[in-house]
Amino acid sequence: MAELVIRRLLIDLKAPIDRHWCGGDPFRTAMLNALSMSFPVGENFFINSVKAGAALLPESERAHWAGEIQGFIGQEATHRRIHGLFNEQLAAQGLVDSWTPRAAARMKMIEPLHPTHALAATAATEHFTAIMAGYLFHHHQELGEMEPRLKSMWMWHASEESEHRSTAFDLYCAVGGTYERRVWWMKRITYVMVTETLRQTLSNLKRDGTLWQWRTWKNGASFLFGKKGMVPLLYRPWKDYFKPDFHPSQHDGSPGLQWLAANSGEFSIVGAGAEPAAVSEAQARQVAA
Ligand SMILES: [Fe+2]
Ligand SMILES: [Fe+2]
Repeated sequence: MAELVIRRLLIDLKAPIDRHWCGGDPFRTAMLNALSMSFPVGENFFINSVKAGAALLPESERAHWAGEIQGFIGQEATHRRIHGLFNEQLAAQGLVDSWTPRAAARMKMIEPLHPTHALAATAATEHFTAIMAGYLFHHHQELGEMEPRLKSMWMWHASEESEHRSTAFDLYCAVGGTYERRVWWMKRITYVMVTETLRQTLSNLKRDGTLWQWRTWKNGASFLFGKKGMVPLLYRPWKDYFKPDFHPSQHDGSPGLQWLAANSGEFSIVGAGAEPAAVSEAQARQVAA
């Protein structure tokens, strides 16, 4: 079982944020803002899916899983809180989050299904966050200079996504999730992630007044499709998920662990999921405030 540490990130997100905080670039900023808007509702869904999935475990296995599940929930709860604060700053800039209500409506449709569906959707989305974390570690220079507190936020989140990348996947397998359901949900989640990221990015650019500027699309095209663009570099790790013998641990998680080790002054440790006295979700919310 992975021991998942719960960390309190020591940054102030009450102070205003530069409009183009990501490398001074409208497109990259709008896209990362869009992703951030999806996190609180998404992470809430992951927490609920993992809780419901854990309830399917046989009684004899629950103690074995308790620490990792507690750590996963604690990490996602702190992400949800921090991105909520960040998103408040985006709202103050006049950006409107239409992703959250659309996602909430979609999640309602999953509710009546067997809990392995929500768990498969969570495992697929967690694969996305893990491979995007990998991109961030290896190619963060492509994003340009970030405001230091925001760089900390993204690197900390990426590190923990990488750290707990196997939890939902392992739980899905432990409760009898099939390969067919796993890949069906990956196809569905891929469609949703691509279309919703695009839709929210366009909305952010429109409200930013930079949608029709030439440099927005020139920089956007090279960020997405250039030699070190997200799309060509993420294609192979994304596709790995379709291998019948895929496991998230086959992807290297060491850059996240290295970032956490080298930046321990950026956060305080508030609990470890593998210990009986791990912090609860409510405590995690408090410490992230
Ligand atoms: Fe997260
Ligand atoms: Fe996650």
